[in-house]
Amino acid sequence: MCGIVGIVGDAPVASRLVDALKRLEYRGYDSAGVATLEGGDISRRRAEGKLGNLAQKLAFEPLGGQVGIGHTRWATHGAPTETNAHPHATDRVAVVHNGIIENFRDLLADLAKDGYLPKTQTDTESVALWVSRELANGADPELAVARTLKQLKGAFALAFLFKGQEAMLIAARHGAPLAIGYGDTEMYLGSDAMALAPFTSRLTYLEDGDWAVITPAGVTIRDGKDAIVQREQQISQTSALLVDKGNHRHFMAKEIYEQPETISHTLSHYVDMGAEKVALRETLPFDFADLTRLTISACGTAYFAGAVAKYWFERHARLPVDIDVASEFRYREPPLEKGGLSLFISQSGETADTLAALRYCAGQGQHVASLVNTQESTIARESDVVFPILCGPEIGVASTKALTAQLTALAGLSIAAGRARGVLSAERENELVRALTALPAAVAKALAAESQIIDIAKRLSKAKDVLYLGRGPMFPIAMEGALKLKEISYIHAEGYAAGELKHGPIALVDEDMPVIVVAPSDELVDKTLSNMQEVAARGGKIILITDAEGAETAGHGISDVIIVPRVDSFVAPILACIPVQLLAYHTAVFMGTDVDQPRNLAKSVTVE
Ligand code: F6R
Repeated sequence: MCGIVGIVGDAPVASRLVDALKRLEYRGYDSAGVATLEGGDISRRRAEGKLGNLAQKLAFEPLGGQVGIGHTRWATHGAPTETNAHPHATDRVAVVHNGIIENFRDLLADLAKDGYLPKTQTDTESVALWVSRELANGADPELAVARTLKQLKGAFALAFLFKGQEAMLIAARHGAPLAIGYGDTEMYLGSDAMALAPFTSRLTYLEDGDWAVITPAGVTIRDGKDAIVQREQQISQTSALLVDKGNHRHFMAKEIYEQPETISHTLSHYVDMGAEKVALRETLPFDFADLTRLTISACGTAYFAGAVAKYWFERHARLPVDIDVASEFRYREPPLEKGGLSLFISQSGETADTLAALRYCAGQGQHVASLVNTQESTIARESDVVFPILCGPEIGVASTKALTAQLTALAGLSIAAGRARGVLSAERENELVRALTALPAAVAKALAAESQIIDIAKRLSKAKDVLYLGRGPMFPIAMEGALKLKEISYIHAEGYAAGELKHGPIALVDEDMPVIVVAPSDELVDKTLSNMQEVAARGGKIILITDAEGAETAGHGISDVIIVPRVDSFVAPILACIPVQLLAYHTAVFMGTDVDQPRNLAKSVTVE
């Protein structure tokens, strides 16, 4: 969602705030702004649209000042206009905010009685006005913030800049992440370690309910009851150098091409390649052998990773799996057996619905495991055991390399569970591990089909609707293909279980409808290919993703075949991600959309 930065400095801050915001732009990009103190007074520059517009504005109307806050917005309340862009300010205080103030209407109604009226449609302005009224009533900045925080409902992170306070910022965290960074003569704050990486690697993550007074000399942190608390300082592993497109046109392309390496890297964490065995490094607070059920919750692409893993855990470990999208799970309040295992999958580790599902399961006495890309994230910190994926920061808003790394780790975990539950023999484990080990090379070969995919994408970019079909573990990959296409090319697409086609969606098929069938040769391929022939018989344009063997048996009526290398069916869903990602990417490039930052989306969804 929105990104927040702040600097209490000893040199001009405006351009450095913009540089830090560049690293957060993936969190939201519909408007941006900065506020600093010039001669003790609050000055702001804000602009609608991408950060470049703000940078341009600052070039014509520079901002001085050695203390300031900045924001890049993903709109929740109020259209993405300059007026609604953060920071929101009165003459006494400027505020930037990530999250939602749920009771802002009540706050505004109360403020109106004293003549404090909003100028924007945002929920954030209620905070600026409430603090201003406290200040006008004689409170100092700390007391004004302490009192205001007690009024707020919702999940949020906030940063405040005060008129006349050249050496102070105040930050507060309630459900949305915020980190304090330590420099030698300056202090920083940011939504995540990535924003602060060029300044410092020494960080403290605020805990929920904390608020902090930041001065050049350091930080004083108070908890939700206003008692001073010590929070651990840690060294972040996030490197300033990692956020770079290299020679690729988009981050998404770079991230697609990194996958042989990121899969290898993740694999090396889970697998002893010499012994051809899975070797978990984490100490498990549970025994797979004792479990009667595994509950998985996640959102979007991470949910599809879990949906593939359901097939693996059930087949290779005979462990029943319940899986649900976190936004439904959290309100379903399912009964859970005490001592059971819940697993949460999240690239960012900050997704609000996934976090709420986690807290529900923890409250039910479940063991809480998470699979995240960000070790310092809230989901990681609230888990009993954290399984990492080691794919480096993912900047493209559409997830690619995180998905294949999640799948690789989940494949390893399913083998570990199968062994612990006595389902997998040592020989079968060796076979499955060999299949995983062969995967990076197969992914590299699958990437080589790019030129053919570009050709298909050119035609796909003319389509209005696209169907994706898959069966078994290819069904979630079909849904992922459809999600990827719609989110970055804005072409409507749906993923269906191949066997469901004749129960309704086949009515959509005509000669204008491209149908992408994901069917590498496995024990289900013949069934999927028959469903595909049902489409061909109705004139649908079929694009088949399969291996050489599958292509031989596919039959007639196929417009295009994308051949991927033949791999063990265990790892075939991971390999199949590559052509669906490339198809979506190149279709979006032909459509001329903003591939890395598609409209209306944000990388880290910290509101429900
Ligand atoms: C789609 C995409 C999203 C995320 C979802 C969950 O390309 O990236 O669907 O997968 O928002 O995000 P995380 O994994 O950060 O919890």
